[in-house]
Amino acid sequence: MSSYEKPDSWSLRARGEGYPARSVYKLKEMDEKFRLFRPGQNYRVLDLGASPGSWSLYVLRRYGNLKLLAAADMLPLSRRFDRGLFDRDNFFFIRGDFSSAPVKEELARRGPYGTIISDAAPDTSGTRSVDALRSLALAEEALAYAGAYLAPGGNLALKVFQGGDTAKLFKRLKEGFLGARAFKPAACRRGSFEIYYIGLGKKDLRETGGQGGRPA
Ligand SMILES: C[S@@+](CC[C@H](N)C(=O)[O-])C[C@H]1O[C@@H](n2cnc3c(N)ncnc32)[C@H](O)[C@@H]1O
Repeated sequence: MSSYEKPDSWSLRARGEGYPARSVYKLKEMDEKFRLFRPGQNYRVLDLGASPGSWSLYVLRRYGNLKLLAAADMLPLSRRFDRGLFDRDNFFFIRGDFSSAPVKEELARRGPYGTIISDAAPDTSGTRSVDALRSLALAEEALAYAGAYLAPGGNLALKVFQGGDTAKLFKRLKEGFLGARAFKPAACRRGSFEIYYIGLGKKDLRETGGQGGRPA
């Protein structure tokens, strides 16, 4: 095991509190700071790059009465900590590449969503510029999901590695949302070049206003 993989205090804390990965504390901090989730009637959340499942578990535990949490990843979820939550009717998981047409169709069918979160990250090659490019492609895909399947008024949080052309991505976020933030949670590994872009309140570009939620 390399020193990078050694469980640190965040990872140990996560396991002690019933989560497979330390990443849960990043989402928790962003949620507490920006109120990413606004559950109400018919409230749906989409989690892109969800495995091993800490973010999904956080949402299901904290907002248990939500209508649906849809999640996608190429890898399976860990079943070590969920205590049946992933078997409930208000959870849907699809295994596959969320850039692919079949996965997109399944997720589109279950939307629109009130909040979209993406912690998706590429397998790292060790070459920063290559990893940043791959991460940017995933972040752009998450932003495209928000454009197509996030309800007006909805929120988005996505991960991106710094080093690529993230300025353009952030500009598009600013254009599409009433508020846009770049945020580095305390639980990010020291030296990691990941950052989260947060879009608050998707602008309603239709002529007649919409309040979000699923159309009747
Ligand atoms: C940092 S992990 C996510 C951790 C997760 N948020 C949690 O709390 O457990 C990043 C995930 O993104 C997934 N991923 C990367 N590219 C993807 C793609 N194109 N489609 C689906 N999943 C992808 C990886 O398989 C990996 O599981």
